[in-house]
Parts: sequence; structure tokens; C-alpha cells
Amino acid sequence: MRAVLFDDHGGPEVLRLDTVVDPVAGPGEIVVDIHAASVNAADSKVRAAPRRGEPGLDFPHILGRDFSGVVRSLGQGVTDFAPGDAVFAVIQRGREGGYAEAISIAAALAARKPDSLSHVEAAALSLTGLTALVALEDEARLGAGQRVLIHGGAGGVGSFAVQYARHVGAYVMVTGRAVNHDYLRALGADETIDYTKQNFALVAKGCDVVFDTIGGEVHARSFAVLKPGGRLIHIAPGPKDFTPSRDDVTVTRPHVGRDRAHLERVLELVAEGAVKPPEIKILPLSEAAQAHELSQAGHVRGKIVFQVRP
Ligand SMILES: NC(=O)c1ccc[n+]([C@@H]2O[C@H](COP(=O)([O-])OP(=O)(O)OC[C@H]3O[C@@H](n4cnc5c(N)ncnc54)[C@H](OP(=O)(O)O)[C@@H]3O)[C@@H](O)[C@H]2O)c1
Repeated sequence: MRAVLFDDHGGPEVLRLDTVVDPVAGPGEIVVDIHAASVNAADSKVRAAPRRGEPGLDFPHILGRDFSGVVRSLGQGVTDFAPGDAVFAVIQRGREGGYAEAISIAAALAARKPDSLSHVEAAALSLTGLTALVALEDEARLGAGQRVLIHGGAGGVGSFAVQYARHVGAYVMVTGRAVNHDYLRALGADETIDYTKQNFALVAKGCDVVFDTIGGEVHARSFAVLKPGGRLIHIAPGPKDFTPSRDDVTVTRPHVGRDRAHLERVLELVAEGAVKPPEIKILPLSEAAQAHELSQAGHVRGKIVFQVRP
């Protein structure tokens, strides 16, 4: 099969499309012919340099954490799928391999893809949807009437988070450049804040929840907008050696596990009409370097997804 791989860390140019050995389903696994594979913000970070506190990569390495496709074969003991089933999944933590024509994965991680979603849409909603649900539903317990500030609402995770927050009846404030404000309002933002012109810390006050997908100084300044007892949920790191200025708020960096249950919850929200796929830029696997150039520039609206099969 063909896959995008790289032999050492470096810029987007290290990514190359090559032929590798086809995967085989081990016990409890399925082999999936991938139709669409999503590009996540983490991918270019994994490509660029070794990550502190994480084991080094075995080269050549294939990136990619979520995908959608069709089951090709079953490993021993798999009874919940049959060859030909359309599925989508987020790969277990510590493993990657979505930028490829096929993958083996634990069957327990995969969910059935409904016909109402294309493979590209399912891939776009997988890790982003799972992450936003863990953050806002499981950790923040966001509910009706609460005020939430979402940083990076136009991104992959943010596009889902804004829709979810609107769906549960929260008052939704979102940061993003002015060029994205129509998109953010269409997703469900009540207020949009152009972070290039406005200081969100002066605009968004009395928040029950901040969901920070940006990190760094955005994390540090977010404490000012929380009311006592408020919750800062973040999925990107704050500044190095940063000490929060308040002890009357809680700060959580959720552990985003991978499981079928959250993907099925994503599907429920789609079926209810509460959440739609984000804006998607579709590229072929052969344009992986371009995908990474765009992703690492930090201003992708919605998602980039590789169309692996037509
Ligand atoms: N398991 C996990 O914990 C987990 C899972 C998924 C993602 N993550 C992490 O979460 C972060 C976000 O992921 P993602 O996939 O949503 O990223 P993404 O799609 O690459 O986010 C891009 C978006 O960020 C916005 N943005 C950039 N700078 C901003 C700023 N200063 N303020 C507000 N918005 C800004 C951009 O909008 P504008 O063009 O308007 O600036 C753009 O739409 C990444 O660091 C990723 O590694 C963690």
C-alpha cells in the first residue's frame, strides 16, 4: 500500500509518499481500507521535532490519528464488524498511521459510519469531536445559561465546540480573526471577538467556562475572564513556568482517551442536527507537505482532510 512517511524530523518537505507493507489484523483488530484521513494540529509538531516527555518515533513513521474507511479483514475474536462495513475511528494514544491506504486498529475503537456522513466528513469529526466532548461535556459540564469563552473557535476542535456549546444553551463567546466571524456566527457564536484588535480579557467577563485550544499567553490572560468557581479547560499548554494568579477557579487539561462511545455520541449530535461537519479543505495524500504548511501556519478554518480513495 501507499503511505505518507518520514525518516527523520524536519520541515514539511520530509514527508514523502511511498510504498510500505500492508497491515495485518492481530487479535481483536480490524484492517480498514482508509478513504479519508484527517490532518490534526499535532501532526506537524510530531513531524517537526521530538516531543518532550514522549518516547521517540520508530522511523520511518506514518502520521495520522483519525480516519474513515471500510473494513477489509478481521482479526481473531472480532465479532462486531464484517468486511465491507464503513467505520471511522481515532487511533489509540501512542500510535499513529492514518496517512495511509490501510491500517490495523483495535476493533473496540472503531464506530460505524452512517451513510449520512461522507468518509471525509466522518474523518473531520473524529478526534475533534471526541476532544470537544471530553472538554465541554465531561469536564466542563457546560449547560444552559452558562457563559463560555472558546478560544480558537474557527479551528478543528473549536468548530465542534462552538456548535456543542450553542446546542446545550450556553451563551457562546468566541475568539477568531474578523475573516472568520461569519463562519463562527453560523456555527452558533453569540459574540465574536477579533483577538487581533480586541483584548478578550476586557471584553468577555463573568465566564463560567473558558475552553482554550490555543494556549501560551492566551491561557495566562484567560484567568481574568472567569467568575469565582469558573473552569478553565485547556488542550494546549500554557506558558512555561506559569503560575496562575487565582485559586478560586479550576484548571483542567483533560485526558482525551480514545473510545467508540464518544464517537457514537458525536454521531448522536450529528443525527439530532446539533452539530454539522466543519468547513473542510480536501487534499490528496500526495500533497501532505502542503497540508502541513497550511496546518502549522495556525489559521486553517475547520479541517484539512486527505481524500485517500474517491
Ligand atoms: N487530545 C488532545 O488533547 C488534543 C486533541 C486535539 C487537539 N489538541 C490541541 O489543541 C489545539 C487546537 O487543535 P485544532 O485541531 O483545533 O487546531 P487548528 O484547527 O489548527 O486551529 C486553527 C485555528 O486556530 C485559530 N487561532 C490561531 N491563533 C489564535 C488565537 N491567538 N486566538 C484565537 N484563535 C486562534 C485560527 O483562527 P484564526 O484564523 O481566526 O486565527 C484557526 O482557525 C492544538 O494545539 C492541538 O494540538 C489537543
